[in-house]
Amino acid sequence: MSTISGRTGAAAPGGGPGASHTGRANDVSRELTSPETRHMTSGYDPIRTLMDEHEGFLARVEAMRHTWRSALKGRNRVSTLPGQVAAFARFLARDLDELHAAKEERALFPVIARHLPSEGGPVGVMLGEHELLRGFQATLAKSGDTLTSDPSDERAVATTTRVLSEIESLLSQHFVKEDFVLFPTAQEILSKNELAEVSRVCLEIEAAYEERYGQSPLLLSAGVGLPSEGSRGLARS
Ligand SMILES: [Fe+2]
Ligand SMILES: [Fe+2]
Repeated sequence: MSTISGRTGAAAPGGGPGASHTGRANDVSRELTSPETRHMTSGYDPIRTLMDEHEGFLARVEAMRHTWRSALKGRNRVSTLPGQVAAFARFLARDLDELHAAKEERALFPVIARHLPSEGGPVGVMLGEHELLRGFQATLAKSGDTLTSDPSDERAVATTTRVLSEIESLLSQHFVKEDFVLFPTAQEILSKNELAEVSRVCLEIEAAYEERYGQSPLLLSAGVGLPSEGSRGLARS
């Protein structure tokens, strides 16, 4: 079972469609998306990128809620429901935690904490909500496992309904706090050098994500390539 930390059971580097590219294409792609190249040529903005990812995540959450509601109405419930839940749990572990939250917790928040108190301050609140989300993800992954064994397990169905609602509520509020309070504050108080420091760490995390999953985070922040059932990278177990 995946956990939201997403650091176990990862797909082998080079797996997925990226592995079918020619060597030259891979070289070019790697060159264009390497941390150094992106930082130098595109004016990479780590905070803007995080905000863009929020939009993509909310769309994915909304799509899952819609899929779930349809499933509960009986349409293809047995055949699609367990896979949808498991795929969404993996998305939370991989994209929301291993990529996005990692950039916040390892790159941005430590630099913000030099200016604002971490404990009891906005960074502490955000960290607490990340932990809440990890708990929801673990519960959802467990429900996905149960439903895979028995799609009619009513307790797992009820748990999934509750947790999906809690995830949507938590994420929408969390992103508002980051987009309209914490991130604008960071843009004001962080120096140019500190922003460059944040960029470097974010780009390292993005490069590690791309290396592991063969999918560029650039596509993610553009709202493209968000994982859906059956897509590559979701086959982690
Ligand atoms: Fe966050
Ligand atoms: Fe965020």
